[in-house]
Amino acid sequence: METILQTLIIQKATEFVRNELENESSGHDWYHIYRVTQSAKTIAIEEGADLFVCELAALLHDIADPKLNISEEVGLARVNSWLEQNEVPRDASEHVMQIISTMSYKGGGKPPMATLEGKVVQDADRLDAIGAMGIARVFAFSGAKGRKFHDPSIDPRMDMSEEEYRNGEDTAINHFYEKLLKLKDLMNTNYGKTLAMGRHQFMQDYLDRFYAEWEGKK
Ligand code: ADP
Ligand code: NI
Repeated sequence: METILQTLIIQKATEFVRNELENESSGHDWYHIYRVTQSAKTIAIEEGADLFVCELAALLHDIADPKLNISEEVGLARVNSWLEQNEVPRDASEHVMQIISTMSYKGGGKPPMATLEGKVVQDADRLDAIGAMGIARVFAFSGAKGRKFHDPSIDPRMDMSEEEYRNGEDTAINHFYEKLLKLKDLMNTNYGKTLAMGRHQFMQDYLDRFYAEWEGKK
């Protein structure tokens, strides 16, 4: 159970993030945050992780994104000052900062999440890129970029070199193979893995239907 102070902080964080991301269209809108937070809570309970830290880190995890700030450092400093201004206890605020800075790390070879709570939040974020939500987001992203959702001349099920991929226009269907179908093997927690398996199977079934319908076979 969360304390009254924790519940108040979660309420304020929700308001802050909702205001910040209401008009975001890069795939990191408020409802992405909402879903990640809901999944983080579900996994945290199953895994016995600190619910308050997971919930707060999930709410704030995209605020420092370089797409929304001049730089990642500036973004992280904003999150830090929000935590200070809202009197989040020091151990929790340090933990949240540690999670968010590891998650937003864009350099090569992402460092693994150091704590159970970090693993939970990263799993929750990855879950939103797969399953029914992942399918919605991949097509929304592709459409927003004005791309085709599928191009049979660059069948991603065939072996292709990195270069061939880059030269071909990235389609929504391509992105399943480049990233989405790989995410289930990157899950950190047991419960995250269980959820990812169901969502992965759903994407696999979807792709099977997609190719069958493309050829009028279903
Ligand atoms: P995050 O920052 O949440 O790890 P991204 O910013 O890479 O993820 O992607 C946000 C969403 O847009 C995800 O659901 C992802 O699948 C989708 N997306 C990213 N790149 C592409 C792409 N090249 N084609 C289609 N969808 C994409
Ligand atoms: Ni995210």
